[in-house]
Amino acid sequence: MSHYCIIHKGELIPDCLFFSEEDSSLYFTYSGECTELEVNNLQYEVDTAAQIPWYERLSEFKLPWEIKGNKQTAINKLNLRVRSGQMLAVIGSSGCGKTSLLDIITCRDEGGTMTSGQILINGKPNTPRVVRKTIAHVRQDDRLLPHLTVRETLVFVAKLRLPTHFTKAQRDKRVDDVIAELRLRQCANTRVGNDYVRGVSGGERRRVSIAVQLLWNPGILILDEPTSGLDSFTAHNLVITLSRLARGNRLVLLSVHQPRSDIFQLFDLVVLLSSGSAVYCGAARDMVPYFTALGHPCPRYCNPSDFYGTCNFLDHFSSGMTNFY
Ligand SMILES: Nc1ncnc2c1ncn2[C@@H]1O[C@H](COP(=O)(O)OP(=O)(O)OP(=O)(O)O)[C@@H](O)[C@H]1O
Ligand SMILES: [Mg+2]
Repeated sequence: MSHYCIIHKGELIPDCLFFSEEDSSLYFTYSGECTELEVNNLQYEVDTAAQIPWYERLSEFKLPWEIKGNKQTAINKLNLRVRSGQMLAVIGSSGCGKTSLLDIITCRDEGGTMTSGQILINGKPNTPRVVRKTIAHVRQDDRLLPHLTVRETLVFVAKLRLPTHFTKAQRDKRVDDVIAELRLRQCANTRVGNDYVRGVSGGERRRVSIAVQLLWNPGILILDEPTSGLDSFTAHNLVITLSRLARGNRLVLLSVHQPRSDIFQLFDLVVLLSSGSAVYCGAARDMVPYFTALGHPCPRYCNPSDFYGTCNFLDHFSSGMTNFY
């Protein structure tokens, strides 16, 4: 029996990712048009003093415009291209620029400036209007109402976000589907909580944030460290879910610190960032052969994303590397 099935434009996709009982899920396929995200020669600088309020600057006996902050390059000449049906993972150590990249794509960057380059969604610049219509962004920090239960949160968002022609029954069905998809059934009636109000666990809260965005069935799904705070089994299952969503003709872009090797295998494309520069940008399965050919083989029994994500030698060839799609 063949282990592959043809899904999208003749691409061979492993059928082991599909579970027959879940194929009927609302979220299995995205029926909208195909999307393509392109980042060309992106250069992004942050002003490390930008977040200091003006009155604190005055206490230094200087007027706000007299204080020059230190400019730091958060992203350096980045190129990438990804389209519907693919899952791209941005990996790298802490502070390498993962969140900055995702925030720039979704027009949520604060305290920095794009000094060059452009971001195109289906060939059009990523204006806030285009982003609002096409991209669901799950941020690194959860921003939820602490006093609502998981189900109330989703019902509330469904009322705000789903088209007005949806009936109450359709909305409830979608909420149930998302709860099942993200394995939130056991805590559906528990309040969400936050640092001060005890509620669901940190991992469950993370999944509620993802559920909120999945509700409106987006074409592009961007997630900043969706697996942080999850145990390895839940993290693996979550990435399998994301992989299924990508197979259903969506574009999934996520950032991860150093994923386990079984999670790494689920990615189609990988961008490895080191101090804001892409040191590898291409198919996930080609990453180890690429570094091996450059004279940096991954030691035996070592997780490639652990090894390459924290290696000092990467800084040497980060500047000259370009995208090689
Ligand atoms: N608005 C800002 N003001 C000051 N510095 C910033 C700002 N945004 C980003 N930076 C700096 O840019 C670098 C990249 O930050 P970013 O949050 O993108 O890292 P990250 O890869 O997401 O890290 P982590 O894995 O810890 O979340 C960091 O050194 C950070 O301090
Ligand atoms: Mg981050």
